[in-house]
Amino acid sequence: MPKKLALGAKMNKFPPYLFKELDEKRKAAEKKGGSIISLAVGDPDIATPAPIARFAAKEVLKKSNHSYPCGKGSEKLRNSIAAWHMRRHGIKLDAGAEVLALIGSKEGIAHLPFIVLDKGDTAIIPNPSYPAYKTGVLLSEAKIVGIPLKEKNGFLPDLDAIDEKLLKKIKLFFLNYPNNPTGAVADKNFFAKIIKLAKKYSFWIAQDAAYSEIYFNKPPLSIFEVSGAKDVAVEFHSVSKTFCMTGWRLAWLIGNKSIIRELGKLKENMDSGQFNAIQETAAYALDNYEKFAPSLRRTFHQRRKKFAAGLEESGWSVYPCEASFFIWARPPIKMSSIKCVYKMLDCAGVLATPGSGFGNCGEGYVRFSLTARDSLLLKAANKIKKIKW
Ligand SMILES: Cc1ncc(COP(=O)(O)O)c(C=O)c1O
Repeated sequence: MPKKLALGAKMNKFPPYLFKELDEKRKAAEKKGGSIISLAVGDPDIATPAPIARFAAKEVLKKSNHSYPCGKGSEKLRNSIAAWHMRRHGIKLDAGAEVLALIGSKEGIAHLPFIVLDKGDTAIIPNPSYPAYKTGVLLSEAKIVGIPLKEKNGFLPDLDAIDEKLLKKIKLFFLNYPNNPTGAVADKNFFAKIIKLAKKYSFWIAQDAAYSEIYFNKPPLSIFEVSGAKDVAVEFHSVSKTFCMTGWRLAWLIGNKSIIRELGKLKENMDSGQFNAIQETAAYALDNYEKFAPSLRRTFHQRRKKFAAGLEESGWSVYPCEASFFIWARPPIKMSSIKCVYKMLDCAGVLATPGSGFGNCGEGYVRFSLTARDSLLLKAANKIKKIKW
């Protein structure tokens, strides 16, 4: 009899992925015969704009795109990224040293802690937050300290409330603005304040801007619009939400040269980068940003206005956010997030995400993702209205 083979104990630290569980719940409800409107996952229902997909189809057929790609991103893609940031944020980036292509920002988010953290180091992860920030920190055997994001502070971390003992210990501080799940944005003062702290106490800032292009009025800032940020920060960007390209897996990291170099080195040893045809396509999308992004943004804004109004009419408190395609709201009566989500599923056939799934500070809230067509959103709002709480 062979000895029982053991698996690495690290994986025991991972909870089941939140969205997988919710999807199973949806499937079970559908099996019972219900038709479920899923507003749980942040994956746009809208197809990638046809000119982008047609461009990609041509690139796929080119032999020159069939070999191993340039791991850190082709020169063309990195130049397009740098040029886009100059147009969009007015920031100057060295495309050779301050830009790194990623296979989706989730990939970069998971790998970044490996090059920053050693066993026993400390990383700050906001609570509530996107679950993937924990992945690389857990695998680096570093410690996670959660800091609360509170509505009264505009869902920004209260930097003045962080104990100096903790500030001295931190090596990595994750930020995410525009924020998932709350939709909050960060202003220049906040970014300037955290950059100053990072310099004083020597920690890295990893700012995730995956939702930066889904905004309603003022374009959200890049952390690099604040001077001195390149000394201590990197920022994630992605084509996923901007161009409805979640399945294409293309994103990038900009900022501090040492991090870009070392993460590039790690990736050379782990993956060989994204398919050239997709890199070419992302460059095309960014070069033609004005043709595609504004209309997608308008669609999400219209959806938001209608759906939020529907919820408010039925007594929900909707957080008045400025970006993202999420609605972060509290139900008409005080109840746990999970109870609320199950009640909506059972009584209205609408699946949303419990705020507590993003961390205990999300308790009491529910996140709706506006990634269903207008008629379904209207139907969902009407069904929610009829629930007897
Ligand atoms: C806050 C946040 N960052 C990053 C990502 C991952 O984006 P990408 O598709 O670029 O991996 C997501 C995906 O939902 C997200 O919500």
